[in-house]
Order: sequence, then structure tokens, then C-alpha cells
Amino acid sequence: MAGWSAAVSMEQLITPNAEHVKVWNEILVPKFRRFRQVLVGGFSGHSDAAFAKFPPQPGQRVLDVGCGFGETSLQLASMVGPAGYVLGVDCCDAFIETGRDDARHTGLHNLHFAVADAQVARFDTDFDLCFSRFGTMFFGSPVAALRNLRRALKPQGRLMMIVWRDIGDNPWLGLPKGIAQAHLPAPPDDAPNCGPGPFSMADQATVTQMLTAAGFEAPSFMRTDVRSCIGATPQAAVEFQLLLGPAGEIVREAGEAGERKRAIIEAEVLALLAKHTTEQGVVLGSSAWCVTARNPG
Ligand SMILES: C[S@@+](CC[C@H](N)C(=O)[O-])C[C@H]1O[C@@H](n2cnc3c(N)ncnc32)[C@H](O)[C@@H]1O
Repeated sequence: MAGWSAAVSMEQLITPNAEHVKVWNEILVPKFRRFRQVLVGGFSGHSDAAFAKFPPQPGQRVLDVGCGFGETSLQLASMVGPAGYVLGVDCCDAFIETGRDDARHTGLHNLHFAVADAQVARFDTDFDLCFSRFGTMFFGSPVAALRNLRRALKPQGRLMMIVWRDIGDNPWLGLPKGIAQAHLPAPPDDAPNCGPGPFSMADQATVTQMLTAAGFEAPSFMRTDVRSCIGATPQAAVEFQLLLGPAGEIVREAGEAGERKRAIIEAEVLALLAKHTTEQGVVLGSSAWCVTARNPG
């Protein structure tokens, strides 16, 4: 298969991120399935802004890292056209299966998916673009992972990754988290997690250092701000926050104390989100960086 040295199944996936991959597979995949519309709706405003500013070109070879259900892989495959090629990779086989199923109905023949830990996978080294929408913040060793992605790029090939800015600039997650924090302690450091976490690449100086250490040059940061619908109704938005958001993590990790406080936290989050209800549902701001950098070769 072009772009990938071997077909990999989950059983064969040897990964230094095994604990994180287990959390993705066992805990997060079912929740991502349940809230797929909310998540993809919220994410796509940021990738649309990135594609408008830095449009992938017909004929390009693109690696889509941490592709999840593969929505951006499909979009990229349309943009690069039949002369181009897209490889979507994700560490969860359930995501990749969905991507393959969806791709079958599109008639796109320039798109493949593979199960891989992008931190260590051996990719071909002829990609023009390494793209990721919110898929690079979970590597246990981000510099090693970014170096591995750089090796997949041709000389002058480009990395384009979309990552969340600070939670303070993301009220869609930050406001409900603030309510949970007012009632309960922070989760313990050894709580099971999906990797360093969604805000681990929020700081420009840190990401610039990571990219430089990984051998990239000319890092640039474009801020994108999107008002995202986080639920059709306040009740649906509360469910999303308590199952998938950082507020929910605080409640779950607090164990019995969390269960005792759950009703009051839910009621306060509901009252907060009700104030942000519009004709489009519950709408709050989200903010990301579109980070680009070049492989000097
Ligand atoms: C927040 S989701 C984003 C999914 C997708 N890019 C999107 O925009 O809908 C993060 C994705 O990164 C994947 N991921 C996390 N660590 C990974 C790794 N080491 N290698 C490959 N994929 C990884 C997860 O399985 C998940 O699908």
C-alpha cells in the first residue's frame, strides 16, 4: 500500500503509547461515536479556516495524523484529486474502520487508512503535507513524534497541525470545567488519560521549541476562533460536558465525592449553558492554532 510499509492490525500495534491508546479505544471511541456530530461540527470550523488559508494542492501526497473518523482525510482526498494521495492514520482501529466504510461510499480511490501510532510508525518519506486536526496533542513523546512526522515529509514538505489554544480561550470546555472545579479537587496525576491532553500544544513558545527540536523550520501560528454548537439543547450540552469534557473528568475521578456533587454540578452547568442557547442550539466560543512548519530536508 502506497505511503505505508506494512498493513497493521491492532493486535500487532506495538506502541510506546499503549496506555493512552487503551483509553482512546475503550473509553473515548464510544463517546466520540455518540457525540460525533457535535465534535465534528465544532472541529470543522477550524480546519475550514486552515484549508482556506493554506489550501492543499492537486497532486499532493498528504498524511492525515490522528485522523479519527477520517472526515478530514476524505476532504483532503477531494482537494488533492486523483493525481494526489491521502493516508489517514489513527491508533484506534474502530475509528479507522469507520473511515474505511465512509470512504467506500465516496468513490475516492486516492485514499487509504491505516492503524498506526504516528509517534513510531515507519511511513514512506515522500509526503508533501503532514496534516492533523486536533490529533497531535496526545503523543507521550511529542518531540520524538514530530521528528517521526518530519521524516515522512519531502524536503520543503509542510506540517500543518490544528491544536487547541489555552482552555481560558475555550469557554465551551473552560466554563463547565470551572463549575466542577469549584466543587471538587483536580483529578489525580495518575488518573488514566489519553496522553498529555487537548491543551498540551496551546503555548506558542513550547510548541516552537518542540518543532525546532524535531528539526522543523519556520514555525508559524495562525489563530482561529469559531463559535461552536455544543448541543441542540442545554440538556444535550450538559450530557456532552459531563461525559466527554474536562468537567466530567473531574466528577468521575473524584469517585464517591463526585457522585455526591454530580446533581448540583449538572444543575449549575445547565443554568450556565441555558444562557448561551440560540436558534442554532447552545453556542460557545472555541479557539485554536493552525501551526505550520517546514521540513528543511
Ligand atoms: C481529538 S481526536 C481528533 C480526530 C480527528 N482528527 C478529527 O478532527 O475529527 C484525536 C485523535 O488522535 C488519535 N491519536 C491519539 N494518539 C495517537 C497516536 N499516538 N497515533 C495516532 N493517532 C493518535 C486518537 O485516536 C483520536 O482519533
